[in-house]
Amino acid sequence: MLHALFASFALITCASGENPAIQLALTDKGLQTVRHFATGVIQDKLDEVTFPEVRGRIVGIHYTLSGMEIVKCDLPEPSIHFSPDVSGLNLSVSGLSVAVTGNWATHLGVIHDSGTFEMAVFDLSLLSVLTVDRDSGGRLSVSTVSCEADIESVNLQFYGGASVMFQWLVNFFTDNIKERVRAHICPGVEEAVDRLERHLQAMDVSVDVNSVMSLELPLSTSPDVDSNWINFGLRGEFLSVETQHDPPFVAPPFTLSIPTDHMVSVGVSEYTANSASFAYYDSGHLQALINDSMVPPFCPVRLNTSSMGQYIPQLPKQFPNLLMVLQVYAQQFPLFSFEPGFIHLDLRSAIKAFAVEPNSTLTPLFKLKVDSELSAKLWVDRGKVKSLLKIDNFTLSLDSSEIGPFNTDQLENIAKLGANAAVTKINVKLQQGFDLPKTKYAQLLNSVLSVEKGFIAFASDAKLQSTS
Ligand SMILES: *[C@@H]1O[C@H](CO)[C@@H](O)[C@H](O)[C@H]1NC(C)=O
Ligand SMILES: *[C@@H]1O[C@H](CO)[C@@H](O)[C@H](O)[C@H]1NC(C)=O
Ligand SMILES: *[C@@H]1O[C@H](CO)[C@@H](O)[C@H](O)[C@H]1NC(C)=O
Ligand SMILES: *[C@@H]1O[C@H](CO)[C@@H](O)[C@H](O)[C@H]1NC(C)=O
Ligand SMILES: *[C@@H]1O[C@H](CO)[C@@H](O)[C@H](O)[C@H]1NC(C)=O
Repeated sequence: MLHALFASFALITCASGENPAIQLALTDKGLQTVRHFATGVIQDKLDEVTFPEVRGRIVGIHYTLSGMEIVKCDLPEPSIHFSPDVSGLNLSVSGLSVAVTGNWATHLGVIHDSGTFEMAVFDLSLLSVLTVDRDSGGRLSVSTVSCEADIESVNLQFYGGASVMFQWLVNFFTDNIKERVRAHICPGVEEAVDRLERHLQAMDVSVDVNSVMSLELPLSTSPDVDSNWINFGLRGEFLSVETQHDPPFVAPPFTLSIPTDHMVSVGVSEYTANSASFAYYDSGHLQALINDSMVPPFCPVRLNTSSMGQYIPQLPKQFPNLLMVLQVYAQQFPLFSFEPGFIHLDLRSAIKAFAVEPNSTLTPLFKLKVDSELSAKLWVDRGKVKSLLKIDNFTLSLDSSEIGPFNTDQLENIAKLGANAAVTKINVKLQQGFDLPKTKYAQLLNSVLSVEKGFIAFASDAKLQSTS
């Protein structure tokens, strides 16, 4: 059954290359929220902007403009939109006006003069088109497609010294300043984009999760840009740190519907869950050795041959009064399947029982097959992810025996009781819920989660906060 499933996975996907197992989308609502937040941050930072000194020479007079400070800045909210035509973003600012004060100084030979000035730059506009792509290493890459900047007018007034003498130079200065600003804005934008690009290039596409596995998050396709959202398709595979084996199955494609009334959407395919399960299984972490001291003291059944005699009559006769150990292990990696409304989990495990001889030798007694099917509901309630687990089917049967056949009905019943007790205990924890991820920059709000065929869909708004 599993092989048929994997074969059909393979058939679905071999034609289309690697399908993303995690999809991460930012909607226009999310983009506008980021833009509004960023404008506020930039506005706050403008106080700290420093300008370099400007030095030059005009008709033999050396001049310096220094100590420039922004005294007023009307920063209109920029406009930013997803642009499917260029697979990127259109960014524009218009009507930006800035007032700057500073000091001027001139010298002609030994004659020095100085004073202050006021400058106002009106209606600065910028139109920049950016494109996003995936590079060969699976990282996001951003580049500028085009950039245009313009400036409507510059007003300049000199005060102090012999300023009246060279107020006639204002036209020269304003033209010069206009040229400078025009010539510097687009290279400035390019430089910012280059800085972003270097930052993206340095980002890790593999995240260490714990000592057993890492999560591989390179982009598996180029970002998909729609006019209402951008969707990033990530590999979304857990990989065993030790074995580094890819799972013996591939990610099937899935279509995440992106609600535009939420800022972000995330889709996680069952492939991601199964790759984690496989990483644990493949690196030998899904097994345990259980001895009597691990059985809770209140439990009436002890792990010894006399106590187990009530279920396996021949056992104490053949091996009187010996302690036992159980080797419990997964026969297959636990298989998750996501169905509309719930998660299904198929567990195929085995238990090998041994008698501990007085000289510590382990003598094999029998092997049991324990198969269980569980289902879990998953939802978000008041900022916490909650879940409810249920055992749908539980069977225990004798697989092989060194001590002759015996009836497993009673053993199955106590194992069922044990499994139900464990699930009840786990549910108490699951009902308390787990906090949604939170960073110091963002907090998730209005989150919704649903289990769909083959993937979990999560959509959320976020509150951004600056940490100054
Ligand atoms: C973005 O800019 C490009 C190039 O200037 C233009 O072709 C496209 O229509 C613009 N798209 C949007 C959504 O404004
Ligand atoms: C049972 O296993 C635990 C953990 O491996 C070990 O510390 C303990 O000594 C064992 N007890 C017996 C009776 O073998
Ligand atoms: C086996 O378990 C019984 C309780 O069911 C206990 O009385 C007995 O001492 C145990 N024997 C050994 C060898 O631990
Ligand atoms: C340990 O004891 C068992 C049973 O008494 C015996 O069959 C086995 O050979 C012994 N093993 C060793 C290594 O002495
Ligand atoms: C439980 O599993 C057994 C063995 O795999 C199967 O025969 C039975 O139909 C299953 N029952 C349910 C309710 O799924």
